[in-house]
Amino acid sequence: MKAVVVQRPGTDKPLEVVELPDPGQPQFGEIRVRLHGSTLNFHDSLAIRSATTPVGHIPLADGAGVVEAVGPGVDELVTGDHVVASFFPFWNDGRPTVDTFSRTPGLGLAGYAREIVVAPAAQFVKAPRGYSHPEAATLTVAGLTAWRALVSDAAVTPGNQVLIMGTGGVAVFALQFAKMLGATAIVTSSSDAKLRRARQLGADHTVNYRSVPDWGRHVFDLTGGGVDVVVELGGAATLPQSIDAARIGGLISLIGILAGVSGDVPTGTLNLKQVRLHGLVVGSRTQQQQMIRAIDATGTRPIIDRTFALDDLAEATDYLSSGAHLGKVAITF
Ligand SMILES: NC(=O)c1ccc[n+]([C@@H]2O[C@H](COP(=O)([O-])OP(=O)(O)OC[C@H]3O[C@@H](n4cnc5c(N)ncnc54)[C@H](OP(=O)(O)O)[C@@H]3O)[C@@H](O)[C@H]2O)c1
Repeated sequence: MKAVVVQRPGTDKPLEVVELPDPGQPQFGEIRVRLHGSTLNFHDSLAIRSATTPVGHIPLADGAGVVEAVGPGVDELVTGDHVVASFFPFWNDGRPTVDTFSRTPGLGLAGYAREIVVAPAAQFVKAPRGYSHPEAATLTVAGLTAWRALVSDAAVTPGNQVLIMGTGGVAVFALQFAKMLGATAIVTSSSDAKLRRARQLGADHTVNYRSVPDWGRHVFDLTGGGVDVVVELGGAATLPQSIDAARIGGLISLIGILAGVSGDVPTGTLNLKQVRLHGLVVGSRTQQQQMIRAIDATGTRPIIDRTFALDDLAEATDYLSSGAHLGKVAITF
């Protein structure tokens, strides 16, 4: 089977298309999936470029395809099911139980830049009805992260105000889910063209974070006292402004590291405004299944900016890293 692997870690051409042996038939509790689609995440680019990624690593955390065979003991999925990968196959439900990526496909384990995978059935869930495989693949990381932030953790209700940072994969899902929940959505971007597109997708207010450097205070004023929830994707450098934008007692969902992994936090303001700061990493398999039920009920579809072939994964990651995209960048195979 064809796969793309990290062959030259830490160089500017780390990836190579290779032929790997067929993984064979599923054993007890396993399924065999023919993969047809993936989508890229910010962290996939980091892992592909990292000098510490082992030679031979198969990247990509998102994956979707068709079940070709099921092993004994599998009753949740059957041959022919369209499935999408779960980010944390071993975190089924309840409170977070994982604080490492050692058992995450695409990071600690082999990912989905390959045509066939044989894996425990718990590594996949049924895809939404009528979704293409790349569309389904958006629900491993970006969709589930946005869903968990707004639904599972923040319990956003109609009339809440939600601030969403940028127009990448997680952000556009957060915009779609915020509107699904009846919330007011405020989107920031470095690009006026992307902000126009965000308005078409339902954003109620938009702010260019380059031309309005004090965007946190600006959002606080335009919402008449701050937002209920901030989908914080920048990290260290944007957190002070997120605290400015939040209402008293609001929630900041700390998700991203687009603008750095550590930095100064104005803890005095955080304290005085009684803002809750909540770090989160993707979500559980059960949260993913809840999201898919909501998608089936509402007909929500992901926004795919551009699609590349598996052979062109290197070009696709360069495109993602350029920041030119809005929503998701997809891979088909
Ligand atoms: N904790 C988790 O579970 C989790 C899950 C998924 C992703 N993440 C993290 O969340 C972040 C977004 O991931 P993604 O896959 O959605 O990325 P992505 O699709 O590559 O999105 C990148 C977009 O973010 C915006 N951006 C970049 N720098 C920014 C800054 N300094 N301030 C505000 N916006 C900025 C840009 O939007 P504009 O072009 O519109 O300016 C850019 O196009 C990443 O840091 C990723 O590692 C975390």
